[in-house]
Amino acid sequence: MGKWILAAMPLLIAGLYVSAQVKKPAKSAAKPVAASAATIARGKALYRQYCISCHQENGSGVPRMNPPLIKTEYVLGDKPRLIGILLNGFNEDVEINGDYYSNPMPSQAALKDQEIADILSYVRNSFGNKASTVSATEVTQVRGAKK
Ligand code: HEC
Repeated sequence: MGKWILAAMPLLIAGLYVSAQVKKPAKSAAKPVAASAATIARGKALYRQYCISCHQENGSGVPRMNPPLIKTEYVLGDKPRLIGILLNGFNEDVEINGDYYSNPMPSQAALKDQEIADILSYVRNSFGNKASTVSATEVTQVRGAKK
């Protein structure tokens, strides 16, 4: 009897493990981490349309005129603040990666929430950046909290 239990132990453990795996909920769509190829492709196309003239193809910006989007605290940091920059524009004297900027950035609020999400997901995962994606829901929340 004792021997039988010992012999069956690995099987029991394997069975428990498998059932635990099965019971895990399906991956939540609300918590995206890696950007899908489709998101990146959409974001890139939109970036080329709306951001490239100032921030350049490789995100380098133009020194002392348009800041870079490469590993800046705004791009990699707090998502609501980053979303807010696109919705409200940005007009402050700021130091970014060692250079000073004071030209105003125009608001991009005419873009749809999904478009802003795609652009920011692309930016946060391009130019050497690596950060979580931005969802349309997150943009909707910031837009709603405005005023
Ligand atoms: C007309 C030029 C222009 C366009 C178009 C533009 N920006 Fe900007 N952007 C700027 C300027 C200038 C600043 C700095 C503003 C300041 O100093 O207050 C800035 C700042 C930023 C910042 C915060 C600072 C940093 O470098 O991390 C982010 C992020 C950003 N822009 C992203 C974008 C994205 C994404 C788009 C396209 C949807 C875009 N911008 C379109 C000119 C532009």
